[in-house]
This record gives sequence, C-alpha cells and structure tokens, in this order.
Amino acid sequence: MVTVEGLSKIYNIAVKDAGIVGTLKHFWHRQYRAIAAVKDISFAIASGEMVGFLGPNGAGKTTTLKMLTGLIHPSSGHVQVAGHIPFQRDTSFLQKITLVMGQKQQLIWDLPALDSLKMNAAVYDIPDKVFKHRLGELTEMLSLEGKLSQPMRKLSLGERMKAELLAALLHQPQVLFLDEPTLGLDVNAQASVREFLREYNQRYQATIILTSHYMADITALCKRVLLIHEGGLIYDGSLEGLHNNFAPYREVRVELSQPITDREGLQKYGQILNIDVQAVCFLVPREKLTKAVSQILAELEILDLSVNEPAIEEVIGRVFRAGSVEQN
Ligand SMILES: Nc1ncnc2c1ncn2[C@@H]1O[C@H](COP(=O)(O)OP(=O)(O)O)[C@@H](O)[C@H]1O
Ligand SMILES: [Mg+2]
Repeated sequence: MVTVEGLSKIYNIAVKDAGIVGTLKHFWHRQYRAIAAVKDISFAIASGEMVGFLGPNGAGKTTTLKMLTGLIHPSSGHVQVAGHIPFQRDTSFLQKITLVMGQKQQLIWDLPALDSLKMNAAVYDIPDKVFKHRLGELTEMLSLEGKLSQPMRKLSLGERMKAELLAALLHQPQVLFLDEPTLGLDVNAQASVREFLREYNQRYQATIILTSHYMADITALCKRVLLIHEGGLIYDGSLEGLHNNFAPYREVRVELSQPITDREGLQKYGQILNIDVQAVCFLVPREKLTKAVSQILAELEILDLSVNEPAIEEVIGRVFRAGSVEQN
C-alpha cells in the first residue's frame, strides 16, 4: 500500500547575520543552510497494517508524512501510496487518503461540526444517503452523539479531536496518516482516541500510519514500529524486537533475608542499578542471565528474586538521548 525508497528531504533555510548590516548583506548575497530533515529512508507497508512512527521532536516524522501525502516534494527518492505518486495530488489519490494533524484544525471554530461535515461531503461528492449512514456509524464509534450540532469552540479538546477524525474519515479513505493525533489530550481522551483507531482499523481494514512521540500510543496500537532519529530510520520491526535490538539486558531484583553489608561483593553478579537496605537491583546482559541468577540463588540468602525487561520507554529514551545509536 505504501512503498518508500531512499526518501530524503533537505530544507534550505536562509541564514542572516544579526543587525542592519546582516540584513543588507542578506539582501545582496543570500546565504542558505541545508537541513537534512529526512535522510535516505526506505520501507514498505502492507494494506491493513497499523504502523507507528516513533521519534523525538524534530526527528523528521511530520516531514515524512508530508511527503507521503504529497504536501511537499521529496528532495530525492521515491514514494508510492495506494498506486499513486503523492506529489501529483490526483483527485483519485486524495479520495483514498486522509491526513490528520494533531495540532491543526480543519473544522470551523464558530460553526457546529455538522455544518463543516456537510461541506466536506459535497467536496468529496459523497451521496446524501452514504453521508448519513457513515456519519451515524462514526458518531457512534466516537461517542460524539449530541456534540456535532454544537459550535466547535464549545467542545472539549478531546471531543474536537474526535470530530476532526470524523471529518477526516467521512470519505472512507483506505490510508490514514495521523500526525500526533493524541497531542495535548488528557489521559482519558488519549485512551478513547486510541480505542477508536484500533476499532476502525479492525472494522475497515484501513492502513494506518501514526506518528507520536508518546510511546504509549504506539505500544497500545502498533505491532510494527518505525523508529526515526535525526532524520534516519534506525529501526523497522516488531515492538518486541525493539527490546532485543536496544536493550540486550535484563533487570534482576533481589530481596535478601539480611541487611546488605558487603556492597562490593555484590558487583560480581551484575551492574548495580540501585541498592536498598535489604534489596538490590542488577543490570545483567541477557547472555549472562542464567549464570548470574543461579549464582545468586546458590550464594546469597534471598527472600525473593524477579527478572524484568527494562521498560520500553526507558530503552527508547536512552537511545534518543545517546545521540548516536549503537545497534547490536
Ligand atoms: N518548513 C521547514 N523549513 C525548514 N526546516 C524545517 C521545516 N519543517 C521542519 N524542519 C526541520 O526539519 C527537522 C524535522 O522536523 P519534523 O519533520 O517536523 O520533525 P518531527 O515531526 O519528528 O518533530 C527539524 O530539524 C525541523 O526543524
Ligand atoms: Mg511532528
């Protein structure tokens, strides 16, 4: 449904020195600085897949979605979506896709959503009967009963986002591009938007590409993750696989029967993450886990022992903070 090959986007931004001299210099000799927002990324997404695009702010997620939806032209590389070249913006392409941006509004602030929706239906040539049916179905799925006849400004942020989703889905697109759809929503509203997307994907087999810098959105919805960092694609695979790639170790938590006296002596079992009066937590490379655990059981008097995977948020956070990425 979506194929991307060697896609890059370089923004040229004008730079000028400060002050009037800088402005004059800039006027005669414009200087540009190139920002590589997206660097040589390739991937393919099958029909009906729900894929999460994860990365910190400025990673290049929005730029990629803009190229996939034809809002901007790639600097190099190839994109195909639903059999179309997005940048050509054919009517038949626009009928097949939708783009929702969490921080942008399509619906008119002072009008009830219903008025805007009727206009959209006309723009997309949706027959009245189909419109009514679709509207009823989506209103129910989004729990927006009674909300669409009120001016948008009277709705809560979560309800507005849901109305935006409804508007974006009225023409039954096959491919949904959602850019930070839960941005700024409270926890409950985030959860209900997620729940809706899951149900929508299952019911209509729509292909959904979702960006977020909230890990929770992705873990809740997407089996497959594309991790983007400083414009590059650093991981494409299953959510579980992320652990193996970026966190090849486990946390071993041990509760001892006596207060700890010999801290030094504990270091042979693994790197000590934290230590309490009678409890200690080690970071142990996966391949050494069995040996470390059996040593602990044989040599220490313990009350309890547990082995955990590090939280995925932690793992990703560490990857992003590290700047450069070392993969295993
Ligand atoms: N229109 C633009 N002109 C110049 N630079 C831009 C423009 N849009 C985005 N950028 C830069 O490109 C990089 C990627 O931005 P963006 O795609 O918005 O990231 P994300 O959506 O992951 O937060 C950032 O460094 C950003 O400053
Ligand atoms: Mg963005």
